[in-house]
Amino acid sequence: MRVSAILSDWLSQRLDRNADQPLYRQLHGLLQQAILTHALAAGARMPSSRLLARELGLGRNTVIQVYEQLTLEGYVTCSTGRGTFVVDTSPDEMVGGTAHVLRDASATKDERAVPRPLQTRTLPLSNRGHALVEGAGVSKRQWGAFMPGVPDVSRFPVRVWTRLHNTHWRRPRLDLMTYAPGGGLPALRQSLADYLRTSRSVRCAPEQIILTTGIHQSIDLAVRLLSDPGDTIWTEDPCYWGIRSVLQISGLRVRPIAVDAEGMAPSSDDLKHPPKLVLVTPSHQYPLGCVMSLARRRTLLEFAQRHGTWIIEDDYDSEFRYSSRPLASLQGLDETGQVIYVGSFGKTLFPGLRVGYIVVPESMADNFAVASAELYREGQLIQQAVLAEFIAAGHFTSHVRKMRALYASRRKVLLDAMHAEYGNQFAVAGGDAGLHLVMQLPDDVDDTRVAARALERGIVARPLSSYYSNRASARSGLLLGYACVPDEEIGPCFQTLANAIDSVCGGVR
Ligand SMILES: Cc1ncc(COP(=O)(O)O)c(C=O)c1O
Repeated sequence: MRVSAILSDWLSQRLDRNADQPLYRQLHGLLQQAILTHALAAGARMPSSRLLARELGLGRNTVIQVYEQLTLEGYVTCSTGRGTFVVDTSPDEMVGGTAHVLRDASATKDERAVPRPLQTRTLPLSNRGHALVEGAGVSKRQWGAFMPGVPDVSRFPVRVWTRLHNTHWRRPRLDLMTYAPGGGLPALRQSLADYLRTSRSVRCAPEQIILTTGIHQSIDLAVRLLSDPGDTIWTEDPCYWGIRSVLQISGLRVRPIAVDAEGMAPSSDDLKHPPKLVLVTPSHQYPLGCVMSLARRRTLLEFAQRHGTWIIEDDYDSEFRYSSRPLASLQGLDETGQVIYVGSFGKTLFPGLRVGYIVVPESMADNFAVASAELYREGQLIQQAVLAEFIAAGHFTSHVRKMRALYASRRKVLLDAMHAEYGNQFAVAGGDAGLHLVMQLPDDVDDTRVAARALERGIVARPLSSYYSNRASARSGLLLGYACVPDEEIGPCFQTLANAIDSVCGGVR
């Protein structure tokens, strides 16, 4: 059988005239495959476009177009008067000399004319990539009972936002549509500086604020600029898994430090080994919800000053405090410029906005701005412009005020449901701030089993123990996010959760 007949036969079995993909593209892909697998050997003469078109029942122009494309891409070469020939596409010795692996030397000429499917192989992830993916905590579901850390995005004033967006696009600013030096939009940095100074007691000028896509990116930036792989960072234990991932992939050695009712509580042994960085959530420890006491704040600042340690303050949800005014930041107490403050609009507005900020000491501001442009480019300037207008017109303050009242009432509905079901049997932590609370379980109860049973019933209840690095000191409990659960669903959903708890704890009541 002629090679061209075998090839046409193989091609016609695979061309699908009913597929969405045009025949031109299909033919192009199949011929590429035949050449890459060496089924069409280097130097082989391609059937003439007229012959192939006739045998496949295609227009000749289609085949000519495919041959031209393959010529441009270097798969075939065309010699006037002689015909079209397959080019030797195998990598040369310099590139590793692996061509022999792909060639099937024992195949007969005719066998080689029948393309084999491409042999794909999966190259392994790097060690750190593997560790990141294996340890990932990101949930496929990001909404509903009782997903922690998710605000009620359905209450966001979409109409106001759309109007501001439209106004912007009616007079588009070209400087916001092109590349820009780092740092972010000056107008937003200015309004943020005013807000952070008055609401969070953060000491800052607009130039000290670098806009990012959120806390993850802010911490990534700070860690890259202030530490080297192998340096040590202290984190609270328990802590937010997402940030642990950011730290680990940067090659830092993460030393988990126990937390008590006053916040991070380093032991005397910990204090003998000062780290390069410390990461804390002083206004609302995540996930337990305690507030770092003033004494601890001062001790930590003094320790950092003595040892040249950087402190990263993650202030992710302090706007939502229900029994008092929001607490002052740790950065505001810092006299020597060693606190890096990070925050985000993810909880106050909506996570998908992806706008956050990092406040750095004055002496570091230019370095951070340059590095952020170098690593992440200029950010979403148009979103930033709309957000600046949103804040300037007072919508931010009024939205946060409304959400605070809404979440406070949902928190109460959840606490009432817990009380009605269990009385005071289970202690609650972190109940007066944020978007979630922790329902503590007896430590001999396997909270991961409870969480799995809850999930089978459609309820997310993240197990507290999974937030600990040090398993020996892990406490048992459930993180229950209430902010994104409509009031009327909280009671019934808690009932379902209680069934899951009872199915594991058996007769706890
Ligand atoms: C403690 C803490 N920090 C940061 C984040 C995430 O911040 P962002 O979405 O701005 O990256 C979260 C999200 O739940 C969090 O709980």
